[in-house]
Amino acid sequence: MSDIKKEHKTLIKTLLHHDELYYNDSKPEISDYEYDQLFTKLKKIEENHPELITPDSPTQRVSDAPASGFVKKEHRIPMLSLQNTYNTEEIIDFDERVKKFLGLENVTYLCEPKFDGLAIELIYEDGKLTSALTRGNGKVGEDVLSNIKTIKSIPLSLPDSAPKLLEVRGEVVILKEDFKKLNEKHEEEGLNIFANPRNAAAGTIRQLDSKISRLRPLKFYGYAPGETSTLKPESQHSFLKALEKFKIPTALRYNVYKQAGSIDEVIDYYEKMDKDRKSLPFDIDGVVIKVDSFQLQDELGFVSRNPRWAAAAKFKPDQEITTVKAIDLQVGRTGVVTPVAVLEPVSVGGVTISNATLHNFSELERKDVRVGDTVLVHRAGEVIPEIIKVIEEERPSNSEKFKRPKSCPACHSELIQEKEEVALRCISLNCPATLVESLKHFASRKALNIDHLGDRSVERFFELGLIKSFSDIYRLTKDQLTGLEGFGEKSIDNLLQSIEQSKTSPLENIIFALGIRFVGERTSETLAQHYRSLESLLNANEEELKALTDIGEKVAHSVYTAVQNADFKSEVQSLVKLGLSPKVQNINVDTNSQFNNKKIVITGSFELTRNEITKRLKQLGATVTNSVSKNTDYLLAGADAGSKLKKAQELGVETLSWADIESYLEN
Ligand code: IVH
Repeated sequence: MSDIKKEHKTLIKTLLHHDELYYNDSKPEISDYEYDQLFTKLKKIEENHPELITPDSPTQRVSDAPASGFVKKEHRIPMLSLQNTYNTEEIIDFDERVKKFLGLENVTYLCEPKFDGLAIELIYEDGKLTSALTRGNGKVGEDVLSNIKTIKSIPLSLPDSAPKLLEVRGEVVILKEDFKKLNEKHEEEGLNIFANPRNAAAGTIRQLDSKISRLRPLKFYGYAPGETSTLKPESQHSFLKALEKFKIPTALRYNVYKQAGSIDEVIDYYEKMDKDRKSLPFDIDGVVIKVDSFQLQDELGFVSRNPRWAAAAKFKPDQEITTVKAIDLQVGRTGVVTPVAVLEPVSVGGVTISNATLHNFSELERKDVRVGDTVLVHRAGEVIPEIIKVIEEERPSNSEKFKRPKSCPACHSELIQEKEEVALRCISLNCPATLVESLKHFASRKALNIDHLGDRSVERFFELGLIKSFSDIYRLTKDQLTGLEGFGEKSIDNLLQSIEQSKTSPLENIIFALGIRFVGERTSETLAQHYRSLESLLNANEEELKALTDIGEKVAHSVYTAVQNADFKSEVQSLVKLGLSPKVQNINVDTNSQFNNKKIVITGSFELTRNEITKRLKQLGATVTNSVSKNTDYLLAGADAGSKLKKAQELGVETLSWADIESYLEN
């Protein structure tokens, strides 16, 4: 095999391994930046050698959009729906019907969560993912493979043990956490807001541009077989286990399913899930009860459009009625003005809601929410309080339509709507609301993490005129703070100490803290790795910015505009003068090292973390790979090394200990 072919293969393996750690185990071992570097390397190789591209290459997850809509395809087996039940009596009726039909006294059920997303059928042919169909009308769906491929937890290929044809039905969802972040990001960027995770997931799958779906955090959970070329396992339970073996995620990994030997156990499960659903990472709107044995399922068959062997037991939605006391306007750190409904406090599913965001003015106008209205509220994705609709019959006769503000509620300057945005924005550089929000962001955990400078203190210091800019934080003195109510000697010391500590924050945190538009945590990391100091970031040019991985035209332009701005520049320079000296991770590669360009496999346990070790080895120019082969140059073995050590010895691969690396580093 040629070197390039080998390198290509190794890169794919390494990236797939890291995908697995990241998406399935939530235990990444390398940073996003390092991942991007590997990914870019792979892309470069494939650009020069397109003949090397394999369908399971991670680059193939970001294929181009189909030119004209999605192709319609017939399902080999129609995708039907479930009969719904809404209470325990109806669940008992379902059980009676099943037992009567089968002539059995007892039936085992598999109970699963009813995912609230979008049904998709994955089709694997000869072990490769070849189509992903929406349900469509049940008979014919649309092939949305280009978007489904962007879901990293879905394997693009299956192990040899998988059937030649395997159709897996399941649900595409967005986790509640991710949904919240997605909407926050959209709100910040002035884009449209999704009503709930299901709409967001469905909208994303229907996107023609898979580059957009890549930016949206979709997940997939398999729950039913379609056509399979070999005999199915004997039960639904073993089918789910088989999917997990093929690395296709299912409800099993959350331990939220139950094999029930009686209908009483099913009802216990239904009631328990209704109670616990708030703490699940995804939205569910009920549970699904399935006869576990596939043989019994076949015997039961179908009645009209529903299987006789399954039922959905739906939950009562957590919705309440309350009234709108006022509509407030909030200004965010990027100047976006958001309308918020102030509600008569009401308890929804055990949590008191007293206000609900209306996201933006188009949304407010679409729902036509007015002060005095009676409204139906819930928590979208069980997190974000939201008005579902106005109950118009209850509207007071003298109510008035809400009028869009023309000026900023905080500084009264004119509000702007930028093209392609729905948001209204205050762009004044002196707006106190924007300023105070940027200061809060600067001190926040993900930015400079100034422990003792919380939102309340920022607001207070701002009102007192003690801090008006980022740099003012570093000018605070003990004298200024002494005598302030609630600030004893101890808390002043703590505050000043945490400000002092923040001076050596990592560069990426400082860049993030500066609040440049469109520069989130990930982009900050990219910028930090490339520019390595605030001074050189200030000299960034637009072309250079555009060339960085993951930085598009919009972001490059925004960064360039910021660093060209005289006020921004002098503020950053003041920060440096006041002692801000960011930590930069050093990954200067020593190309003269004996390990440069060598392939090293790590095995066993060490005192340092794998991450640390990998970083050190990379500094020495080595590539860390996963499995031992005759191409491996060294095996770095720690305590309790097992099969990899054995294999290395068989292949005559040189073995090193951490002490060997350390002594090399010392010399
Ligand atoms: S099994 C014959 N299992 O509910 C249908 N469906 O009305 C077999 N759903 O369109 C489907 N979670 O989108 C099944 N654990 C689960 C499910 C589930 C959600 C959805 C699915 C289907 C709808 C049925």
